[in-house]
Amino acid sequence: MHIMIREFHHISLRDRNSFGVEQQAARLVEFETADDLRDIFAHGVPPRWMVLSGGNNILFTQDYDGLLLTPVSRQISILHDEGSTVRIRVEAGVEWDDLVAWAVGHELWGLENLSLIPGKAGAAPVQNIGAYGAEAADTIRRVEMFCTETSTMLTLDAAHCGFGYRESVFKHALKGRVIITAVELELSRTPRPRLAYGDVEREVEARGGASLANIREAICAIRRSKLPDPAVLGNAGSFFKNPVVEAPVAEALLARYPEMPHYPAPDGRVKLAAGWLIDRAGMKGHREGAVGVHERQALVLVNYGGATGGEVIAFARKVQQRVLDRFGIAIDTEVNIL
Ligand code: EPU
Repeated sequence: MHIMIREFHHISLRDRNSFGVEQQAARLVEFETADDLRDIFAHGVPPRWMVLSGGNNILFTQDYDGLLLTPVSRQISILHDEGSTVRIRVEAGVEWDDLVAWAVGHELWGLENLSLIPGKAGAAPVQNIGAYGAEAADTIRRVEMFCTETSTMLTLDAAHCGFGYRESVFKHALKGRVIITAVELELSRTPRPRLAYGDVEREVEARGGASLANIREAICAIRRSKLPDPAVLGNAGSFFKNPVVEAPVAEALLARYPEMPHYPAPDGRVKLAAGWLIDRAGMKGHREGAVGVHERQALVLVNYGGATGGEVIAFARKVQQRVLDRFGIAIDTEVNIL
């Protein structure tokens, strides 16, 4: 089924960004297929364009004077189903959590720990979304994309996607050059529960053990208990990334704060919890005007209503400065600021 392309001019972005800030875009086009993209780029690449997917990881601080492209294709198809592994193709406009629900419904393992992450499947590889000991890169095998420079479709194997903690080639070399149209994932029929993170095991046991449905339910419950629902309170999930520091830096801090959460990174460095640092710097629940640090998860900044992007940024800078003053650690933003 081909959905008609919808095109808007001078459109309010308020309902298209999870922070709920009021800005406008000069032009926004909803696309479905590669042909749609070829048509859109037939007269050359516009001077300013970008993909606006679910708008869950973005903060607009001004009106956007270019072209926004939003994927609306929503097919999930099975490519191979052989023995224990199942290869699926998921179009960019599929809601990520609809995909997780689909996989759990089909008794396929691999996505359950990523339940309830807001956003669309096409955005998942960009920042390699992750939670509760899993990340999108664990299952992504290929990414399909439209290359705006050549107006052709390309497919990139996962090995070339440069996946890391909240990292990929799509944030760097391919940024502003390609539009992701679909992702191929490999899921498993063989149970492989990942329960090691935080309260996951306890919540799963409380539901009767490590079935896919129980894990999904447990993850959803943990997220609902900590993370604000963007439909109720504007936010973009973690506003900051967890900092990864050299081992001696972590050791020095641990000598002073033995209870500080810390996780070894694959490269020998140590990942710290920005939420803990912000919390211990006394900023959790702190509010100035319409912006605040969420009361239950200090990594999340919230819009209590009517905040502008500029106000959120100014507030975020204060949080970063406070953490720097208190712990000597610089924390970066995870959210894209425009
Ligand atoms: N902590 C505090 N106070 C807080 C928040 C956290 O002390 O206000 C402590 C927790 O007690 C825990 C540690 O910090 O010991 C880590 O907290 P949590 O498990 O909540 O995870 P996180 O590191 O704060 C990351 C992701 C989340 C993801 C969770 C669960 C990033 C930037 N964030 O948060 O992702 O859901 O792990 O895996 O990596 C997102 O990216 O939008 C997001 C929500």
